[in-house]
Amino acid sequence: MIRKLSKSKSKKIPPRVPEGEAITDMPELNMEELNKEFKKRMREYRNFVKFILYELNVKDNSKVLEIGPGPGWITVVMAQENPTLKITGMEISEDMIRVASKNIEDEGVKDRIEFLHGDAADMFQLKDNSFDVIITHDSLHHWDNPIRVFNEIARVVKPNGIFCIGDGRRDIGLGAKVIFNVAKLMISKEISYYWKTSIMAGYTPEEIRDILDETDLKSKYEIKMDLFDLLIINKSK
Ligand SMILES: C[S@@+](CC[C@H](N)C(=O)[O-])C[C@H]1O[C@@H](n2cnc3c(N)ncnc32)[C@H](O)[C@@H]1O
Repeated sequence: MIRKLSKSKSKKIPPRVPEGEAITDMPELNMEELNKEFKKRMREYRNFVKFILYELNVKDNSKVLEIGPGPGWITVVMAQENPTLKITGMEISEDMIRVASKNIEDEGVKDRIEFLHGDAADMFQLKDNSFDVIITHDSLHHWDNPIRVFNEIARVVKPNGIFCIGDGRRDIGLGAKVIFNVAKLMISKEISYYWKTSIMAGYTPEEIRDILDETDLKSKYEIKMDLFDLLIINKSK
């Protein structure tokens, strides 16, 4: 159940610990290995894509931009769900693009998806008002300069275009903590470590609202949230 942002009760929230931008090959974990873990999140990706396509009413033949597609599973699900879409991924990590390029080829959707190597804080390759839909999932907490990325989203999206920015939140409550501690028992130590660091790098709804209000998306957005996640979408008319 997603609800709208209201003033949250004052609770002790640990300080934010930034995670860094690009996710690249590491000595203990290369992106081909990490790809297997991302692939386990297919159900979450399908729900995210269905929300965008059907709740936000994406039209056939739309041009879609995904910021930080990582291994590209969201682009794959989206291209399979609606074969008329043309999808671009803007990704800062060349290692991720290597893995994503193989995934879209293996899944038979590479003719409708292209990946660009670059930083979403400066998408000089993309023209003003050129995308019908801009999405991003689990990437916001990595951005060094979210104000610049939000301004780039505002520049590149068409005037009546759709944006949908989904990410984890740091101010998780007791229910989410219990779920996290149970889930930890079923996943590898590395993955539970990265899950925890991504929660700690996340924003609270209030923090993200303060940031958004400094950008060209000001007065154009609304924030929704559930147990673990925040969703920034166009303000409903
Ligand atoms: C946690 S992954 C999420 C991948 C995918 N969206 C998903 O949900 O499975 C975050 C991705 O964002 C990319 N990223 C981080 N900062 C970025 C930036 N400024 N511009 C473009 N990509 C960025 C990272 O390299 C990484 O691939």
